[in-house]
Amino acid sequence: MTPLTPLTIRGRTLLPIVQGGMGVGVSAHRLAGAVAREGAMGTISSIDLRHHHPDLLEMCKQNPDQATLEAANQTALRREIIAAKALSEGHGMVAVNVMRAVSSYAAAVQTACESGADAIVMGAGLPLDLPDLTQGIDIALIPILSDSRGIALVLKKWLKKNRLPDAIVIEHPGHAGGHLGVASVADIPSERFDFARVIEETMLTFDTLGIERTRIPLIVAGGIDGHAAVRHWLAMGASGVQLGTAFAVTEEGDAHPEFKRILADATPEDIVEFVSVTGLPARAVKTPWLDRYLRNEQRIRDKIGSREQKCPTGLNCLAACGLRDGIEKFGHFCIDTRLAAALRGDRANGLFFRGREALPFGSAIRSVRELLDLLVADIRPTAAA
Ligand SMILES: Cc1cc2nc3c(=O)[nH]c(=O)nc-3n(C[C@H](O)[C@H](O)[C@H](O)COP(=O)(O)O)c2cc1C
Repeated sequence: MTPLTPLTIRGRTLLPIVQGGMGVGVSAHRLAGAVAREGAMGTISSIDLRHHHPDLLEMCKQNPDQATLEAANQTALRREIIAAKALSEGHGMVAVNVMRAVSSYAAAVQTACESGADAIVMGAGLPLDLPDLTQGIDIALIPILSDSRGIALVLKKWLKKNRLPDAIVIEHPGHAGGHLGVASVADIPSERFDFARVIEETMLTFDTLGIERTRIPLIVAGGIDGHAAVRHWLAMGASGVQLGTAFAVTEEGDAHPEFKRILADATPEDIVEFVSVTGLPARAVKTPWLDRYLRNEQRIRDKIGSREQKCPTGLNCLAACGLRDGIEKFGHFCIDTRLAAALRGDRANGLFFRGREALPFGSAIRSVRELLDLLVADIRPTAAA
């Protein structure tokens, strides 16, 4: 079998496999560090990481104002980056995922730069100001986009700032877990998100803008389920693939074992798309809370849809929040509370983001190394899980 072509990002040679960022706390130092140690790119999600740090949670309980909560999160992010880098033993890359839609995105970018992260991966909104926020700093910048129109827009804006992305993640709303890069649930099946089409149109955009076709590695994300898929997309012009759900359920995944069980055991009928409080559609497992919410969604919207509410956590995590700001067509629940419950493995109350497709090891929980062996070399573990 011919070995896969490595992925090169900002001069570093990596396995062509990327572990996508997963909030709240699902991809922290243990997962990202383990992935990096194997020579791939591991990603810490910067969202609300204080849940992994009892001392910071205690500090927030004593003083639950927004400034304290925010400072706790930046301290947690710093600790997680330092711990992941130590775990990686100098191998691979440790990236930090920042959602453009959160109010503290600029602070997260700054913490990532100051704490030694190797890359910033930004999605959930257009990362138009990312080059300005990282001016003069040697860090890889990687936008997450879903169609070629978005890619062309970011490239044109960044070219004016004399910066090019070090890679681009192309995330497919039809397959990926978590928030999806589409305006509405009805848009999800659109053919403009097909990986082959986005790759081809992006190459034409590169030609138009005078960017060499091999200059910016393209990484496809969503529904990658095994070695054959990796080989297929690399042959189709991608330089790497990104997986989320399959890494979330590894032994090293930073969430509670029950979180992993719920994701790994979900059947296609259990997985649903709905509108999140961010206004973006999202994909998750229909666990008891989400089932109840969706059955009552219209009633909730009719009752409180356009009414402003006090932020239940005091964090005011989102720049625009359907619940707090009373934006009728958005979702109406506290996403931070629900994702934190999922991280703790609280099946009754949590919101469990998950991709649409079957997982490489079915419902078995395996290690990061076993997952990478399968994806890179089609090596299957021999012993039963
Ligand atoms: C539990 C979970 C949480 C996620 N959270 C984030 C996030 O905070 N930011 C982000 O950019 N992507 C997030 N994603 C998307 C993943 O990084 C990844 O791109 C996607 O899941 C790939 O699809 P797959 O799950 O089919 O492999 C999340 C996915 C999951 C399953």
